[in-house]
Amino acid sequence: MSGVHQEKLVNLLASSERAASLAKEAAQLPAIPLTAFEISDLEMLAIGAFSPLEGFMTRRDYERVLSDMRLAGGAPWTMPITLAVADEPSKLLAHVSRAALANPQGERIAVLEIEDIYRPEREKEAQAVFRTTDAAHPGVQRLLDRPKTYVGGRIELFRRPAYPFAQYRLDPAETRAAFAERGWKTIVGFQTRNPVHRAHEYIQKAALEIVDGLLLHPIAGETKADDVSLEIRLRCYEALIAHYYPRDRVVLALNPASMRYAGPREAVFHALIRKNFGCTHFIVGRDHAGVGNYYGPYDAQKIFGEFAAGELGITPLFFEHTFYCRKCGSVASPKTCPHAKESRVILSGTEVRSMLRDGRDLPEEFSRPEVAEILLAAFRSEGVRPAAR
Ligand code: ADX
Repeated sequence: MSGVHQEKLVNLLASSERAASLAKEAAQLPAIPLTAFEISDLEMLAIGAFSPLEGFMTRRDYERVLSDMRLAGGAPWTMPITLAVADEPSKLLAHVSRAALANPQGERIAVLEIEDIYRPEREKEAQAVFRTTDAAHPGVQRLLDRPKTYVGGRIELFRRPAYPFAQYRLDPAETRAAFAERGWKTIVGFQTRNPVHRAHEYIQKAALEIVDGLLLHPIAGETKADDVSLEIRLRCYEALIAHYYPRDRVVLALNPASMRYAGPREAVFHALIRKNFGCTHFIVGRDHAGVGNYYGPYDAQKIFGEFAAGELGITPLFFEHTFYCRKCGSVASPKTCPHAKESRVILSGTEVRSMLRDGRDLPEEFSRPEVAEILLAAFRSEGVRPAAR
């Protein structure tokens, strides 16, 4: 099995000396306000999680990503990383070469070297990225809500956003160092936005059987309003690791990215991000990064076939729909279980929510009791709606 990928990481975080001079410069520049979603992209760029990208995309990269799932230079890349600016300010930007990037509180935190200002074709973008132009899709909705001009160019971040859960904030350089320290040569990354359940645990552990270590890497950026909060998801993971995982085989860290709900294209994007964090392998299960019925259950696996072997620099590990089977007495999938669906414990998100709403415990076959307890308590106190698939 191939070892740790040593591709070079982009670093766009200013050193403290440089930060001071950039802050001074930024104070004099026109400022572009960023949304929380764009801030998470900015951070991903700055820490090298989007390597080889060095900034928000110019038209050349943007168009090639939509048409070919590649950057203008040919490297595989499936998701546009763009900055949207309203019409009036974008006219002012045409006369300057640099702009400050501001957080939603109005504080200037980065500088953008303006390389391109362009009008995206939003229908084309929606169709290419989300495979639909239906405004009910959360990614399409977000796209249509954005201002209609994009500004591209290299960024430098001089002031990092303030973070909750700082102990789980590991930059790509830090996860790579953590893996090297443990002597791991092969590492599998696990993307997730939902509270952990037994099917998740099963595919994580099945993958861990063939590699040295596991990176549990929940999304820390924006998710849909009805997804469970990061705090609750982290508490579920802490409980699961404490009771069911060998501590020395697992790293739990946050992925600062926001969810796109772009299914297949997002699966490849997620894999490329985890390569940057130092993973050699990446789990893609059923309906990865999907929403509603927009994607077939295995579309997010099939898309990997559109890239040549070795081209992505990370090996996907595919898993079929996984569930607990009472006859098998274990978690299984259609690949390993011959029994009828009556013996399989499969709960939809709606069923899980209604059980929690009624104050009923989730069955042990679906959720570890330590995790179920946290979800039940959270549901009672905050009315969160734990999604599950
Ligand atoms: S996702 O939006 O991040 O994909 P989620 O956190 O539910 O949502 O899934 C994390 C990973 O586990 C994805 O690779 C997904 O395909 C996989 N997965 C989730 N549930 C199952 C299941 N029951 N069987 C197989 N794979 C699953």
